[in-house]
Amino acid sequence: MTNQKLRIGIIGTGGIAGAHMRSYQKLENVEVVAGADCIPGKAKAFFERFEAPEALAFNSAEALLRAVELDAVSVCAYNQAHAECTVAALEAGCHVLLEKPLCVTMAQAAQILQAEKKSGKIVSVGFQPRYDPNSKKIKEIVQSGALGQVYYVQTGGGRRRGIPGGTFIEARYAGMGALGDIGCYGLDMPLNALGYPKPLTVSASKFGHFGTNPALYKEANRFDVDDFAVALIRLEGGVTLDFRMSWAMHLDSAGATFFLGDKAGLKVAPGPGGAWDGRVGGLTLYHDAFGDPTETPLHFAEHNTDLFFEKVKDFVAAVATGGSAPIPTSQIIYNQAIVSGILESAVQGREVEIVIPAV
Ligand SMILES: NC(=O)c1ccc[n+]([C@@H]2O[C@H](COP(=O)([O-])OP(=O)(O)OC[C@H]3O[C@@H](n4cnc5c(N)ncnc54)[C@H](O)[C@@H]3O)[C@@H](O)[C@H]2O)c1
Repeated sequence: MTNQKLRIGIIGTGGIAGAHMRSYQKLENVEVVAGADCIPGKAKAFFERFEAPEALAFNSAEALLRAVELDAVSVCAYNQAHAECTVAALEAGCHVLLEKPLCVTMAQAAQILQAEKKSGKIVSVGFQPRYDPNSKKIKEIVQSGALGQVYYVQTGGGRRRGIPGGTFIEARYAGMGALGDIGCYGLDMPLNALGYPKPLTVSASKFGHFGTNPALYKEANRFDVDDFAVALIRLEGGVTLDFRMSWAMHLDSAGATFFLGDKAGLKVAPGPGGAWDGRVGGLTLYHDAFGDPTETPLHFAEHNTDLFFEKVKDFVAAVATGGSAPIPTSQIIYNQAIVSGILESAVQGREVEIVIPAV
């Protein structure tokens, strides 16, 4: 490896791009040399705000990728543009750190996977809650076999009131609402703990009773996505996944996450403040001891890890060493299949079979 810094670009310089920029700026072996946003002037203003005026700014991903040689890009565009930006970056020979969710439709997902395979580059998807020590511990417990055969998982949660604004509330930008914003985190935590089993079927509903009501939400005229989604998903290996996620509801919490196994159960309390970002609350093991039902609270780590920085650092390490994607599309395609399946099932009003694109 040479001492040369990795050359990074950022596509989409909106809200979350700032967290990518801050993380890259903490790493000595990278330099953000360029960026693009389709809103003219936005990328330039972004780099000025981050005191990096020497970074080149473009008004389209294509112009950026044509003009600048890069090792990797962060794709921080809204969901509907994830596929086009990621495919363009891969075709230009870049590794990609792609914000979550993977995309919106399975057709877009197939384009990303095909381009990744053809390019030989990596695509890592931005699920930073995985770096939470408690998320890691949940995976360790499930994988240890302490629960026995897991057959039912309830996951999700969400906010009593917490509909964001901006591009998140219009289908033409985001493709979906709470489901893509925080729902995909709610799916990633248990699926990752279980070793990402393949989803088979999904039966779902989605609602928008708060977002579309001007008395409850100030931008109701623009809102056309879900603010509450619920689904029952069958996974390979005999696990049923029960999911719900809320941006707004008349309830304090949509409940804990829990895993039921034939030896023990694991309850994961909702995260701090109830505003769901993938962080979790306390962990309790439910098991029998000497014939009696018993509960054991498990050690719980404080939330003091900079999850976002860990995610960027891990991606950069993989790029620098020629390693594989820390959060690979081979897993996240199943997360996306559920998300896209929920949208499809909710629209069709029936259970749908999940088809994973062959790549
Ligand atoms: N991991 C996290 O914690 C986290 C948090 C917030 C958002 N996100 C994800 O990040 C993505 C962006 O969210 P945001 O809050 O930054 O949204 P945003 O609307 O603030 O920013 C998106 C930017 O992308 C630009 N853009 C869209 N299409 C483009 C294209 N083809 N080429 C160049 N620029 C393009 C838009 O003009 C906009 O400036 C979403 O997918 C969201 O789910 C992740």
